Amino acid sequence: MEDHRCQAPLITNESTTVHVLYPESNKVEILDDGRSIRDVIDSKIRECSSVGDPELFYVANLDSILERYLQWVTNLPRVKPFYAVKCNNTASAIRMLRALGTGFDCASKAEIQLALSLGATPDQIIYAHTTKPQSHIRYACTRGVDMMTFDSEDELLKISLCHAEAKLVIRIAVDDSKSLVRLSSKFGASLASAGRLLERAKELGLQVIGVSFHVGSGCTGAEAFKQAIADARRVFDIASSLGFQLRLLDIGGGFSEIGDFQQKFEKFSKVINASLDKLFPPDSGVEIIAEPGRYFVESAFTLAVNVTAKRTVVDDEDSSSDRTIMYYINDGVYGSLSCVIFDPAHCQLEPYLHRAVGSAEPRYQSVIWGPTCDCMDKVMERCWMPELHVGDFLLFDNMGAYSVSLFSNFNSFEKAHIFPVVAAKTWRALNLAHSFGNTC
Ligand SMILES: Cc1ncc(COP(=O)(O)O)c(C=O)c1O
Repeated sequence: MEDHRCQAPLITNESTTVHVLYPESNKVEILDDGRSIRDVIDSKIRECSSVGDPELFYVANLDSILERYLQWVTNLPRVKPFYAVKCNNTASAIRMLRALGTGFDCASKAEIQLALSLGATPDQIIYAHTTKPQSHIRYACTRGVDMMTFDSEDELLKISLCHAEAKLVIRIAVDDSKSLVRLSSKFGASLASAGRLLERAKELGLQVIGVSFHVGSGCTGAEAFKQAIADARRVFDIASSLGFQLRLLDIGGGFSEIGDFQQKFEKFSKVINASLDKLFPPDSGVEIIAEPGRYFVESAFTLAVNVTAKRTVVDDEDSSSDRTIMYYINDGVYGSLSCVIFDPAHCQLEPYLHRAVGSAEPRYQSVIWGPTCDCMDKVMERCWMPELHVGDFLLFDNMGAYSVSLFSNFNSFEKAHIFPVVAAKTWRALNLAHSFGNTC
């Protein structure tokens, strides 16, 4: 198998050099002969197996990102998405979103560098972190990235020193009790403090252009958006009484479409649209943006991992109990499966065997471990599976969100390689050769 590792880690753009965190094929594989994603996975597994060095890899289905984008513009036509790069910083996903015309929510200097190097323009970036290192604010300033969030007086002071021309967005804390990952305990000014912060911004001569919030990741209740939009309206009114003319509302992230979230997006959209039309009607001139992460990439990535070892254990104290087969795979919670520990919105993994499994094959009580020396590195607690063999591949669907971007280097295990794939008609319709710079 061709080794792309030496080609992929750097993306260069004029004076900037950006480290892309995951090894990724420079080339997008174009499906132009009736091949499916499953065919691509099969052929990658065949390649891996034939060289006798089974690896781990993702196949990134860029058409899935397109589908989500089309669903977004159909359901939330007034809301421009600024993709949250933190969710998955894979170059091909960012290039695809760039080609579709989204903006980008960046949380650090490196994310800004990455978005710029992949073609985003500074006005398409919001630096959406309320506690920024001064050097990162200065970097944003030098690159013309002006839009950034704040939620405290200290942040205002830093911004006045490092980027006095910034266009500021006040982030407010909102009710996130309906979300699986709650963010408002860490970020966001209270409604009670918003007026004081806006006055302070005025004293410092800073420009405030809008309000943002995040209802929390994996939001389960559309009412959270309704209340948060009403809270934002109050801050717009406070700002107006202080002489500000705010013109931007950022409704954050929190959208998902897998598992329990299926069919929720349309329902959420109806609630959001009704609130926006009531409190921020089109003729108000307020631009509406959002910072979806999970929504765009979650279903686009399938992870293929390899069984590297197994061990059968029998409970010596209880001879009546079933034996348990322990499997060790080459990715785990310190790699791209950290969602098991860190992501309550996606902690129920459903791996399946790549090879065909007969319905009559017996199932055994099994445990799946990651590759590191730590016992925290457990991917699946007792589950019933057909017997696996060393060298078998397991597939995990819906692995695009908070997976590749959370990889740690613990025990220095190999990172999964990423193979981006797109349908030929999408490649042509979006003129992706221009965005990706390859034609095959
Ligand atoms: C400021 C901010 N914006 C956007 C996101 C993306 O959220 P999600 O992936 O739930 O859409 C996050 C996630 O942590 C965030 O902190």
